Amino acid sequence: MSYYPGGDTAATPLAFNGFDEADTRLKTRRGRPAWNETAQDELADGQRYSTWPSIEKGCRGPKPYPSWLIEDAAALDTELGILKTGKEGDVFLVERATEARSALLAAKRYRGREHLQFSRSQAYSEGRSARRSRDNRAVKNNSSYGREVAALQWASAEWTYLRRCHEAGIPVPYPVQIDGTEILMEFIADPQIPRAAAPRLQQLSRNDPRLPALWDQLADAMEKFALLGIAHGDLSAYNLLVAGDRLVVIDVPQCVDLAGNVQGLDFLHRDCVNMCDWFTAKGLPRDAEALFTSLLASMFA
Ligand SMILES: Nc1ncnc2c1ncn2[C@@H]1O[C@H](COP(=O)(O)OP(=O)(O)OP(=O)(O)O)[C@@H](O)[C@H]1O
Ligand SMILES: [Mg+2]
Repeated sequence: MSYYPGGDTAATPLAFNGFDEADTRLKTRRGRPAWNETAQDELADGQRYSTWPSIEKGCRGPKPYPSWLIEDAAALDTELGILKTGKEGDVFLVERATEARSALLAAKRYRGREHLQFSRSQAYSEGRSARRSRDNRAVKNNSSYGREVAALQWASAEWTYLRRCHEAGIPVPYPVQIDGTEILMEFIADPQIPRAAAPRLQQLSRNDPRLPALWDQLADAMEKFALLGIAHGDLSAYNLLVAGDRLVVIDVPQCVDLAGNVQGLDFLHRDCVNMCDWFTAKGLPRDAEALFTSLLASMFA
């Protein structure tokens, strides 16, 4: 009997997530056996035993764990496809499942090589300290060891900011675990299309009735960032997902410390301009300077 509803999992197509770029189409892995047909050492291509049991406590998400989180040591992780390939890493759709339950996760994996946006990366991380000066030098010199270190540092930064944001009540995917350069987080699904990722804000049309409420959620999230003393640093309609009526902020490794980074306020200002320009272009005029001033006021209140 197949574990999956609807029978043969190998033939189950994944829903297309509606992205317009060619590289964002989910590529299904076929030939995947059902969970209860998997013998001990016969994992299929794209399958592994759940890494949860081997993850140190500090590398697991904050408690209380959400009800959907699977801790079972016998669970299997199955890679279902790729959500997005990027310059610095890729995001995969992974299912963690036991015979009884399953949860979809997004796996963001940073790549050590081809770390092309180096100068930009250094502007973001100014004010952050790496523990080992040898690592710092290697990153600066962009050696292959340095690129590996940078991948670990960016994964670690994203993990830290995801946790901080989650704990501050900012709507981000729940951070499940970090394992080296791989972060597993809650998969933000499109409530209308099973197994499809929520669309990016960018995909919403001008007359979408949800836009005013989404702006309110964004302004609230930006205020919470400011209260934490950080700015997202790369806020755009591409880094915001829309799950039904809910706005979710993603892609946080480059968050900047507003006090520790001399360019911190410039990044915050740019975030305000990007988002106000986007909403204004969609027919909802928003004033970037007013937003920036109100965020500064919350920061220093
Ligand atoms: N938790 C998630 N749930 C659903 N989809 C996600 C999730 N995280 C990322 N994605 C999808 O993967 C895409 C890329 O994610 P993200 O922006 O974090 O990675 P990136 O490598 O920084 O990409 P980019 O360079 O395009 O910004 C997102 O636009 C979104 O479509
Ligand atoms: Mg992104």
